[in-house]
Amino acid sequence: MKILGIETSCDETAVAIVDGEKKILANVLNSQIDLHQKYGGVVPELAARSHIEVLDSLILEALREAKLDFGDIDAFAATSGPGLIGGVIVGMMAAKTLASVFKKPFIAVNHLEAHALTTRLTSDVSFPYLLLLISGGHCQIILAKNFGDYQKLGETIDDALGEAFDKVAQMLGLPYPGGPHVENLAKNGDEKRFNFPRPLLNSKDHLCDFSFSGLKTAVRREIEKLIGEDFSHLTSPVKILAQDKADICASFQRVVCEILISRLTNANLSEFNLKSLVIAGGVAANRYILSALQKWAQDFDMAVFAPPIKFCTDNAAMVAWVGVEKFQRGIFDDINFKPKARWNLS
Ligand code: KG4
Ligand code: ZN
Repeated sequence: MKILGIETSCDETAVAIVDGEKKILANVLNSQIDLHQKYGGVVPELAARSHIEVLDSLILEALREAKLDFGDIDAFAATSGPGLIGGVIVGMMAAKTLASVFKKPFIAVNHLEAHALTTRLTSDVSFPYLLLLISGGHCQIILAKNFGDYQKLGETIDDALGEAFDKVAQMLGLPYPGGPHVENLAKNGDEKRFNFPRPLLNSKDHLCDFSFSGLKTAVRREIEKLIGEDFSHLTSPVKILAQDKADICASFQRVVCEILISRLTNANLSEFNLKSLVIAGGVAANRYILSALQKWAQDFDMAVFAPPIKFCTDNAAMVAWVGVEKFQRGIFDDINFKPKARWNLS
């Protein structure tokens, strides 16, 4: 069985073909980073237009890479939410069109489920597992009980973690997306220099929830102290010493790890007898966070799984894989499936 998956929900246009034996037969991607970089974030209208421009040729490229024809594909899957709705419509309509023309099933994929199940493609992880989903748009702790059975234990009440990385990077004049740049600079930084706050840590009502907006403001205040002025009015990037930048990145990352660990510890692991922690989403590409979580998990006798870096950030192999999982269970979607800007996993 071979499934073609399409991903267009944010700033990556991606197409992949995956089979029932977890073989990734093709995996192609066009990143729009250059297009959005000067705006410091994704511009939805530009993103949707760019998806339209490149998607057709990426589909053909994927087929060429896999040495397959349209007729060899058993179902067409596409991210159908959540995400930037213009982009979601582009990818979903392409998959529906191919499904109609070639008389094959259409499979609507939840982008969060695609991140959530990626390690089942890249490693052998079986249910149940604890899932830490940390991306540019989400920050959630989920109990993945079975396929299609997800219980949300906590989530961010303001910014997503990737967003916090991106905003800190932007304040430091680093390119978009900022996460990888913050991780890189942090390697040479003193993680104890700044004592940033850990919001919600003592809140009994938010045991597994996150809040990153106060942390972001605290970073901003430290930067303002370093440069000696409020930089909201400055038109050019702030000038900060390289060592100060590195120390901010390292201290920010350390506090992020402490926050993640405290929330995961509150997830009451013993009650569910969980043996695996899966980290997914773009921020899971951060190897400092991964190793901190691996150290923490040892105390709970849990194995930690994260996809290889290129499958942490948005890609279509994870979309095709959800297609495989749904196909194997005989779950298909109607051609009238409506695209969803918001689509909860639980
Ligand atoms: O999952 P993703 O590709 O897109 C969404 O679905 O949101 O995640 C993108 C996010 C961006 O905020 C980016 O800065 C962050 O993932 N990211 C990282 C790293 N690589 C990507 N954050 C921290 N460290 C990284 N190495
Ligand atoms: Zn994503």
